[in-house]
Amino acid sequence: MRDQDLPPAIRALDDRAWLDLLLQSLGSREVAGATFPAFPDAETQRRFVGADGPSTLHEAFSFYTLLKDRAAAMGRPLEDGSAFLDFGCGWGRFLRFFWKDVGARALHGCDVWPQAIELCRELGMPGNLDRLYHWGRLPYADASMDIVMSYSVFTHLPEEPHRHWVAEIARVTRPGGIFALTLEPRRFLDFIEALPADATGWEGDLRRHHAAIPDLRRHYDSGAIAFLPSGGAGDFAGTLYGDAAVPLAFIERHWSEWFTIRDYVDDPGRFFQAVLVVQRK
Ligand SMILES: C[S@@+](CC[C@H](N)C(=O)[O-])C[C@H]1O[C@@H](n2cnc3c(N)ncnc32)[C@H](O)[C@@H]1O
Repeated sequence: MRDQDLPPAIRALDDRAWLDLLLQSLGSREVAGATFPAFPDAETQRRFVGADGPSTLHEAFSFYTLLKDRAAAMGRPLEDGSAFLDFGCGWGRFLRFFWKDVGARALHGCDVWPQAIELCRELGMPGNLDRLYHWGRLPYADASMDIVMSYSVFTHLPEEPHRHWVAEIARVTRPGGIFALTLEPRRFLDFIEALPADATGWEGDLRRHHAAIPDLRRHYDSGAIAFLPSGGAGDFAGTLYGDAAVPLAFIERHWSEWFTIRDYVDDPGRFFQAVLVVQRK
């Protein structure tokens, strides 16, 4: 665990001023008297989140402020020591933001991809960093987390890993605790259908599944996960990873044992993906 806490003057900043410091930390690790984690090179940033530089932080800021607003409105404000987990933390884009609110000791990030955790350590990410194993347990005690988030992770999981990990997240979340995540909504299938035949990169991988879209739409409308095995091999094999549109009906059916739905935002003007906020029963 990297027990780096920020000076009190920084922890007292409002969220907008905090975003400004994080943006400055793209250019220098020493900002306002504190040492910030480094950033991966631009190509590595893009590999994880499809973009690099300031836009990655602006995108994260919208989710950060929504999660903080909802948590406060639900009587669970993020504060010093609130146990916080980022499931599928990648290079620690969100851990940087929540560092100010909960402090290094309460900050937890985990990822199934070992390179992500190694990278976070190399970058000097504060907090507790844990590697996960497919079909394994989260390395945290029952009911130990106040807030769990997962951005652009359940958008990649087929049904079995999805159900495995949500059961684990439910296990580690305290009663009344909050889980906020992104899901691909139905419009994601329209997006794939509209991709040009010469699309490249991630879009090219999606475009290869173009002919399956009518079936996937029927699947989605019946309340099932519409999954495309667009990921590749190894950790990204189709049984573990790809692209997935998840209807709310699926969440209602399979999550209601543990969670109550509190908010669902499907607004492309605000978020690329849909945002779901649930509360542990
Ligand atoms: C698109 S990236 C998003 C990274 C980070 N959440 C962000 O938004 O900056 C997806 C991340 O989920 C991780 N991941 C994929 N499948 C996972 C799983 N089953 N358990 C945990 N992490 C997983 C990947 O290794 C990767 O770091």
